Amino acid sequence: MTYTESKMEKSLNIGTPFKQYPRAKNGKIQTASFEGASLTSENDYWETAYESGEYKHWEFSYPSPELIALVAANVPERNARVLDVGSGGGIDAIFMAQQGFKVTGIDISVAALKIAEKRAEKAHIRVDWLRGNVLDLPITSETIDFITDRGLFHLIENGNRARYSSEIFRVLKNGGSALIRGASGASPHDQFNPINEKAIDKFFTSSKFKRGPVLPIPLLSVEGSMDSRIVMLQKRD
Ligand SMILES: C[S@@+](CC[C@H](N)C(=O)[O-])C[C@H]1O[C@@H](n2cnc3c(N)ncnc32)[C@H](O)[C@@H]1O
Repeated sequence: MTYTESKMEKSLNIGTPFKQYPRAKNGKIQTASFEGASLTSENDYWETAYESGEYKHWEFSYPSPELIALVAANVPERNARVLDVGSGGGIDAIFMAQQGFKVTGIDISVAALKIAEKRAEKAHIRVDWLRGNVLDLPITSETIDFITDRGLFHLIENGNRARYSSEIFRVLKNGGSALIRGASGASPHDQFNPINEKAIDKFFTSSKFKRGPVLPIPLLSVEGSMDSRIVMLQKRD
């Protein structure tokens, strides 16, 4: 069966929504603005969230199952260079490093990177942690085989999504892939910029990326799950 967005909207009822997901103090989700998300005041929300322990509400106690499934299917290939954008507390990045990939985790929050770094040290595994903005990645062009994004693209406001896409395109090698998952916009609790076929096709044009289907997935956290979408994009040669 081929899923279409409309079929998915009707049929989805995935788990309970997160009770708490990142909200800035004014009740508005912090979005990444290329101008403002210089590494100063605009990311205060994320610093506070990681310093206060709030981040635990969107973390899962385990690497994300969809990433595990891909690795089990030998995607990405052995020796791939992997980039986790918005790597947060580092659970997925550390998992990928443990599977033998050369991994870089990038996050705008220093507090997040410190948590991730401690976890990697405890696991005796090397990950290169970098503070940076996904809209201006501190990564050399065409050096990455595989990008994982769990919960970042849905924070990027429309005005910055083309910039996100061009950065992903720039750093990927030809034939490299990006796995993106985030909120679908279907849940009443959903405060994000939805990920759906329309948004993906608008910002990841078919001349640059070949995409797989945009499919429903529960984004798991210790609080429950959030109605989300997953898509894999491959940079065209
Ligand atoms: C919802 S959290 C997801 C974290 C992690 N991927 C996970 O699954 O637990 C979003 C992450 O993106 C980071 N972030 C927000 N805006 C960013 C930006 N413009 N560039 C890089 N990271 C950003 C935040 O600091 C936070 O760690």
